[in-house]
Amino acid sequence: MTSSDVGRIRQSTIYRAGTYGRRPAVPTDGARLEEAAEKTMSRRAFAYVAGSAGGEATARANLEAFSRWRVVPRMLVDVTDRDLSVELFGRRHPTPFLVSPIGVLSMAHRGADTAVARAARTTGTTPVLSTQASVPMEDVAAELGGHPHWYQLYWSRDDELAASLVRRAEACGSEVLVVTLDTCYLGWRPRDLDLGSLPFARGEGLAQYTSDPVFRRLVAERVAAAAADPDPEPQPRPTPAAVRTLLAMSRNHPGDPRHNLTAPEPRAAVETFLQVFSRPSLTWEDLARLRELTSLPVVLKGILHADDARRALDAGVDGVWVSNHGGRQVDRSVAALDALPGVVDVVQRSESSVPVVFDSGIRSGADAFVALALGADAVGVGRPHVYGLALGGEAGVAEVLDNLAAELDLTMALSGCRSLADLTRDRLVAG
Ligand code: FNR
Repeated sequence: MTSSDVGRIRQSTIYRAGTYGRRPAVPTDGARLEEAAEKTMSRRAFAYVAGSAGGEATARANLEAFSRWRVVPRMLVDVTDRDLSVELFGRRHPTPFLVSPIGVLSMAHRGADTAVARAARTTGTTPVLSTQASVPMEDVAAELGGHPHWYQLYWSRDDELAASLVRRAEACGSEVLVVTLDTCYLGWRPRDLDLGSLPFARGEGLAQYTSDPVFRRLVAERVAAAAADPDPEPQPRPTPAAVRTLLAMSRNHPGDPRHNLTAPEPRAAVETFLQVFSRPSLTWEDLARLRELTSLPVVLKGILHADDARRALDAGVDGVWVSNHGGRQVDRSVAALDALPGVVDVVQRSESSVPVVFDSGIRSGADAFVALALGADAVGVGRPHVYGLALGGEAGVAEVLDNLAAELDLTMALSGCRSLADLTRDRLVAG
């Protein structure tokens, strides 16, 4: 058994610093963490990260669902030695936390995916690299220096592009392929809509695309077609906002920003992305093709219905990820936590007992305890790590991840649990 004392060690670090008058710059409470991050983030960035679909009922339901469960602590158990580790796809992870894939991290902090990767490495947490990242996966993998990572795929309308992304993920050492199913279109997100703000339209969050040979070929074809067009569309009169967008596109596109300002590629890249992003025609039949593309374990992210879990198992996937994308896709959707037990039941009853990952609403170690007790094998940390990033870059992300592990460790100890195997449904009552 790996002995864990991460809870007590983290507490001591914080309290000791307190005796010198230093308080944590990254609040340990989830709600205060979000409030603090809002103060440091631009309006556009906070709208993008905090915003959800529609009236945000799903996002609220995700959090409320946790309050319907209560932990029942047990006494007089020797909890001196605790083990928070879990084995997933042949690798033992020191804690059950994963860093959920989040796009456009450059909006939160200039360190973006690189800072998150460093924090993931120092805390021993596995990050899931997003298809909408701000830094190409190869650069992030180099930064991780052999530390494990997974890759999240948005299946493009262009099959060749999807295949290229998968090949690159394999080549740079990603250990698991997570295919996100809930984003065949972007959800209706009033916070972004009311600001008229879509980061991708400014060339933000396109690094996996602009570094991809297939995507670059598509862009070159578009540029060549536009140059050959005898009857081009008239350009609208430039406004100050249009100039700012052009500057942003030039900055976010690879290469010299001054050259990019007059080059057609940055705009063509944005337009090509908007054309190829995500694939509404994807069905269960397409999954078989993934098997031809990769030998990596495949996890489906966005499963919320027991029947979909069953179909996923029938299709031979290696894991399911219960998530509603943090409420960003469908308003008034079922809370992710409410969907978890049904999916777990299907998986546990099947012959191929694959791992179940959970995210959407994890804000504390106690939340993680509940999700794990309801049968999740691992939990994804979404918005909280972005708020840590906004507040303190790499160190801020590390603090968030350390705090979550510390609180989970103490919740386990104080409830009489020594390992994740002890976290079973009978540790909870409906509250
Ligand atoms: C996301 N999420 C996401 N998921 C994914 O598969 N690929 C992606 O690129 C993104 N991008 C993204 C951006 C932002 C700003 C957010 C908040 C979320 C969803 C993410 O992986 C995870 O499912 C949710 O963040 C979980 O919800 P909470 O716990 O963060 O509320």
